[in-house]
Formats: sequence, C-alpha cells, structure tokens
Amino acid sequence: MKDFTKKNIKSLKPSATLAINEKSKELISKGKKVYKFGFGQSPFPVPNSVISALKNNADKKDYMPIQGSLSLRQSVAEYINKRTSNNFSSEDIIISPGSKELMFLLHLGFDGEILLPAPSWVSYEPHAIIGQNKFHWIETSVENNWFPTSNQLEQKAKELKNKNIILILNSPNNPAGSSCKNFEEIANIAKKNNFIILSDEIYTELTFNRKYNSISKYYPEGTIISSGLSKWCGAGGWRLGFFAVPKNLGQILKMLKILASESFTAVSSPIQAAAIEAFKGDHTEYLNSTTGILDAVGNYVYENLKSNKVLIQKPEGGFYLMPEFLNSKFKTSKEMCDNILDKSGVALLPGSDFGFKPNKMLARLSYTDFDGKTFLQNIESGKKPDHEKIKKFAPNIVEGTKRLIEWSKTL
Ligand SMILES: Cc1ncc(COP(=O)(O)O)c(C=O)c1O
Repeated sequence: MKDFTKKNIKSLKPSATLAINEKSKELISKGKKVYKFGFGQSPFPVPNSVISALKNNADKKDYMPIQGSLSLRQSVAEYINKRTSNNFSSEDIIISPGSKELMFLLHLGFDGEILLPAPSWVSYEPHAIIGQNKFHWIETSVENNWFPTSNQLEQKAKELKNKNIILILNSPNNPAGSSCKNFEEIANIAKKNNFIILSDEIYTELTFNRKYNSISKYYPEGTIISSGLSKWCGAGGWRLGFFAVPKNLGQILKMLKILASESFTAVSSPIQAAAIEAFKGDHTEYLNSTTGILDAVGNYVYENLKSNKVLIQKPEGGFYLMPEFLNSKFKTSKEMCDNILDKSGVALLPGSDFGFKPNKMLARLSYTDFDGKTFLQNIESGKKPDHEKIKKFAPNIVEGTKRLIEWSKTL
C-alpha cells in the first residue's frame, strides 16, 4: 500500500473535541441524556446591530483585499488601540477566516521554535507539528494561575539561545479560565531574549471584571495580538479573526499576506462589512449582560463542585473551568473522562489534550450548555443572575454539576 501522508501529518490524531462529540452522539442515539460540558462555543446570539449589518450587506460579492477591507482594518485598529493603548494603524492589521487560520499560517511560515504553556488550547501543538517547528511545553501550576513563571522562561531562554522563539500566551485561558498575573515579568524576559509573543486575546473581552488586560502593554514592539468575533460576539461560525502585528515584525506580516493570498485569498465580503459594526459599535450593555451570566454560571459550578476531592480555581473570564479530581483510580485523564461520561452523562475533555501529562487528573469543563438567547432576554440589564435564574435558565448546568458532584463522591 502506497503511503500518501507526510510523516509529520501522520503523527497528528483527530482532535479531542471530535472524539468526545462522537462518543456523546453515540450515547444520545442510545437514548441517554448527555450534558455537553466538552464543547466550547459561545451560547449567546450575535448582537442585533451586527446581524442587521450582515443582512444589509448580503449583496456584497466582490473579492476583498487580501489583508481585509480598509474600513474594517481601521475599525479593528481603533478597537484594539482603545483596549491596549497600542498605536496600530490599518496597515498593521490582517483579517482572516477565524484567528486559527492566521495562527496556522504563522507556524507554516515561521522558522524557529515554539514555547507552549501547559495547559494550552488544543490546536497550538498540531500547528507547530504541521509547520515543522520544534515545540517545548512549559508545565505551569495552579500557584502561578496556570501561566509560566519568569524562572521557567529564563531557563528556556538559556536552553534555546540564539534561536527564533515564539511564546504563545492566552489570557484568560482555555482551558482553565484564569488570567495571567505576571505579564510584566514575562514581557521583560521576552524583551531581553528577543522572543516574539503571540498573545491570543480571543477571550479577553470576556474578562469578568471587564478590564481588558494585554501583555502588549509591556512589550508592544514584540507582541502580535490575535483575536476575532468568535467568542465575545457569539459569531464563531462566521469565521472572522485578525492579527495586529507591530511595525517591528513587518516581515511576519508580509509573510502572512503571501500565505493568505495563496490560501484563503480574503474573508467573505458580507462578513467583513458586518464586522465593522461589531468592532465600531458600542456593545457595552450586551457584554455586561453576557459576561454577567458567564460569571454567575461559572461561579455556580465552581462553588458547588469544589470539595476536598475536586480542586478548582475561581473562573476569571471566558467559559471554562479546569477541575482536578483527586484519585488513584484511573491511569489517565482520558480514562477518567470516559468513565465520567459513562457514569454521569457529563462530557468533559481530558487534561492530556491540553499538554498535561496523561496521569494528571485534570479535565476541561465548559459551562455553556444553556440557551443564551433566552437567558439574555430574562435578566435585568447590568444585574448578575442569582441562583434561581441559573436554575431556571441553565438547567443542564445545574443538573450536570449535580451529577459530577455525585460522581466525585465515588472516588
Ligand atoms: C484559545 C483559543 N484560541 C483561538 C481559537 C480560535 O478562534 P477562531 O474562531 O477565531 O478561529 C479558539 C477557539 O476555540 C480558542 O479557544
């Protein structure tokens, strides 16, 4: 049998999210109720003004400039400058079908090595493998809020002297829902060692204290900011993301433009037009309400699930928690998550998919299994929902949490 697949691609396995979805579907087809705590998607509708902008631009049909339309890039530059006190101009912005695509292209074109904090989002490692860039996991701990310490980074800088390095950071992060507290010291080490930082800010707008914090504040010349519409605007399926690239890294922007022109060409024109409204419009009320709900629901799960057998950190943003189930019953977190799904009907993703050693009993829990549209319609503006509201409008979260608590008592 001929081999059609390149060696580096062959080493990749189907994503964990797909595997858990397959298993969940199988259980559902057998009539079992599954609590979908494995899948990370915004439960909220896209803001009305953004939907209207899309409707009004449905007739747009021309190919757009590779980097994205000028007015969209201007509005993205203004949006990000306002939040980070950077000074990006429209030329520094590139628009893509989801930020994932630009990250992928970055790995494809970049010649160097990648530093990944464990835990990290599931796609960073496969991107590095496809791009044939060596990657290095830095195992973080709860003591540092699941972000690398300055000592760990100093050590890596010594080991990898004179190499081109990209350090990927994501705060608040997927999978722990925690925010980085040591941006300044990380930035200082990055600056001293000429690391490039890829700051994945896809969840930053969903920070519960509503303060947008970016490492670019401390290292603007070396930080690429990545974000988009998928999480804060509830528009994952629209596929619109961007990179803001500092002038110093113009070579990288040039490389991304070439790769974009030879792959996706440009993002869909109606979506780009609607995105202008997303980035320009004032969505404060929408965001206060959506983050208020996520904050209340996340804290409900956190307060109820934490015990002497389940360690968790209070969520600070996004829509994930990363519980650790203390036990010696299971050999791997995957085995444990299979058991949780079988016994309690709650789907979680194993910590091993986020860069942890398989024997660490961590899992990612996404608390988005509720109807965000109905929930939004039933809260008073600016008021955080109480437990009664959570019970009424997020019943799967309440029941799934109860089942997880019961399961954890069997450990
Ligand atoms: C940490 C993180 N970064 C990036 C992405 C990709 O987002 P996009 O929809 O912009 O490609 C996701 C989506 O799940 C994510 O969780």
